[in-house]
Amino acid sequence: AAVRGLSTTAQLSKINNVTIIGAGLMGSGIAQVSANAKLNVTVVDSNQSALDKAQKGITSSLQRVAKKKHAEDAAAQTALVSSVLDRIKMSTNVSDSVKDADLVIEAIVENIDIKRKLFAEVEAAAKPTTLITTNTSSLRLADIGLNLKDKTRFGGLHFFNPVPMMKLLEVVRHNDTSDDTFNKLMEYGKTVGKTTVACKDTPGFIVNRLLVPYMFEALRLYERGDASMPDIDVAMKLGAGYPMGPFELSDYVGLDTCKFIMDGWHKQYPDEVAFKPSPLLDSLVDAGKTGRKSGEGFYKYK
Ligand code: NAI
Repeated sequence: AAVRGLSTTAQLSKINNVTIIGAGLMGSGIAQVSANAKLNVTVVDSNQSALDKAQKGITSSLQRVAKKKHAEDAAAQTALVSSVLDRIKMSTNVSDSVKDADLVIEAIVENIDIKRKLFAEVEAAAKPTTLITTNTSSLRLADIGLNLKDKTRFGGLHFFNPVPMMKLLEVVRHNDTSDDTFNKLMEYGKTVGKTTVACKDTPGFIVNRLLVPYMFEALRLYERGDASMPDIDVAMKLGAGYPMGPFELSDYVGLDTCKFIMDGWHKQYPDEVAFKPSPLLDSLVDAGKTGRKSGEGFYKYK
């Protein structure tokens, strides 16, 4: 039994090399937490300037962490930052970068056709044991992985923004994800310091399935004229203990992202009332008011 126990541990701790595809907001955060957990990380992006930006973003995020941890010790700060950065390689070549990967995490644009094309390339170049995952927020794993030859090694790792701060990781299994794959993904989540929850391949998994309809319900409350936006935000902060109200949160996430998610679900489940689009949100997005990032959404930002 001891030997069997040992071999299970060895199997589970096998993830050493992680390749993250997409060096945007999410990919760079996932790279940082993975390298911080002493894994060997390769970050891939089709766009060299995205890689340069990720390198800068990870460096300044690590500097903040190092300053907090070693307030009085500049040498220790530098050592911490470079020990993590040294574990991260950057590349623009997908096939080369997944050859030695034990785990691939896709965090590219939320587009089903582009993701499918990428996964075909990944599966063709990766080892037959490599775990292949997506960080999708709103697409079905069954759709993204439709053309994979081996679907047993495919699953979801849904991180939250900002990745280094947010403690949760949703580990998603679709119908064909094997127990071994699922267990290894859960283990990876713990390795990178996250609390893991198990989800099925359903719209929005757990968090977004509850949060996105809640944000739209707040909009409907406002659209009916039942309460003002600031009052709804204050009410949810002080009455429900949420750190942000629904309109503040929507502006933070991006109104275009909220609309994109809801439109996709509405198309797939036209009878689900919780997935009904909002005319007000549509008109704001049409006018380019996408939230904090554009300077205006529900509120104006400087
Ligand atoms: P982003 O736009 O910041 O970054 C995407 C990156 O992917 C860009 O740097 C782009 O150059 C690169 N890219 C696009 N197509 C590529 C390809 N074919 N090969 C290689 N690189 C490619 O996007 P973000 O926000 O990081 O989102 C990435 C994924 O994570 C999406 O699936 C999104 O739904 C999901 N997600 C986003 C969250 C968020 O709060 N932004 C939260 C959780 C998941």
